[in-house]
Amino acid sequence: MSSVLKDKSILLGITGSIAAYKAAEIVRLLKRRGASVYPVMTQAATHFIHPLTLTSLAAQEASLDLFEMKRGRMEHLSLAQLADLVLIAPVTANVMGKIAHGIADDLLTTTVMATKVPIILAPAMDEGMYENAVVQANIRELKSRGMHLIGPEEGELASGEVGKGRMSEPPKIVDYAERILQSRGDFAGKLFMVTAGPTREALDKVRFISSYSSGKMGYALAEEGIDRGARIILISGPSPLIPPPQAEFYSVETALEMRKRVMEKFSAVDGVLMAAAVSDFRPKLVHKSKIKKNACTSLKLDLVQNPDILKELGRIKKDKLLVGFCAETSSLKEKAEEKLKEKNLDLIVANDITLEGAGFGVDTNIVLLMDRDGEVTSLDRRSKREVARKIWDKVKELMPA
Ligand SMILES: Cc1cc2nc3c(=O)[nH]c(=O)nc-3n(C[C@H](O)[C@H](O)[C@H](O)COP(=O)(O)O)c2cc1C
Repeated sequence: MSSVLKDKSILLGITGSIAAYKAAEIVRLLKRRGASVYPVMTQAATHFIHPLTLTSLAAQEASLDLFEMKRGRMEHLSLAQLADLVLIAPVTANVMGKIAHGIADDLLTTTVMATKVPIILAPAMDEGMYENAVVQANIRELKSRGMHLIGPEEGELASGEVGKGRMSEPPKIVDYAERILQSRGDFAGKLFMVTAGPTREALDKVRFISSYSSGKMGYALAEEGIDRGARIILISGPSPLIPPPQAEFYSVETALEMRKRVMEKFSAVDGVLMAAAVSDFRPKLVHKSKIKKNACTSLKLDLVQNPDILKELGRIKKDKLLVGFCAETSSLKEKAEEKLKEKNLDLIVANDITLEGAGFGVDTNIVLLMDRDGEVTSLDRRSKREVARKIWDKVKELMPA
């Protein structure tokens, strides 16, 4: 069977790690599956593997120099444009740190900054380096920006010790690259609506009722969906986040505004991922001026229920795919199941917001996915972007053929 790598251009970054010699094998495996390979080395990498080895195997000259003009263009821009995928294997702690912090001081890191294609990183380093808190923070940052990391794994290290830090083996890395390229087209031609963030329900001219929702989960879903080929309508309550430029974006404030936008767009979409934390209640009366504290010693709020947008969608959905979210503080599974059925959902993403590293405002989440057939997947703590990836994987499984 023909590989998705056939006729693809892979930019293979090689950095200053002992594992750099394994890049030669990666070139061979990629070529065997029909890809064109463009090796880009850091200066440090040349201490570990000779550029001629990579040039010969790839049948493409290994590039090193940021200031060289090949193909009549600046090398970093032409490489960034011709690549279908960037794979850096091995990637050092140093290069991960640079990418995570927007440093572009050589050909490889400048090309990474200029490219829009998926990026896979295969770290290799000594266990002490890998466990360093800065390295771990950089890895989290890279994952939350949608980069794909494979490994490192437990095994024998260059130092002779056994520990975590060994680069994944070349066949595994190449299989992974194949899977990533495959998933790029998962939702080509599909239109999804994603809602995100909190809503605000005004009490008076200066105050409102809202929730701690930041919008991070919804925005991660929108970004991941776009990366996998979907067109995305993103409807967001107030959030400090920047919406992905490719999304059709609508900013709303109240639950009623959100409902109006959702209903307006619903007929056109293939599915909805309702990650917004819509306020269940709103004040019955919005004071026209500021409520003054000296006018009363206590204040009773009279609240009315907001429409349950998800439940409404569940009633009219037909074969559209509907994903709901719930944030709970107890009996997660039971409540998720109840909501899944009550709202006629295809999938529910439930998180226990009492757990550290889950729920509102934080960059990570711990969730349970329950689908319409009752299949449950528990995801331990991971970045919201990784959770988004798993949710889209599940959506793909549940989509009508
Ligand atoms: C023998 C030797 C082996 C090294 N192996 C690694 C490694 O596996 N991973 C790593 O992150 N750094 C490793 N380093 C350190 C990097 O080479 C060093 O941080 C260098 O500045 C990386 O440059 P680059 O990231 O631009 O390629 C090694 C250094 C030496 C001298």
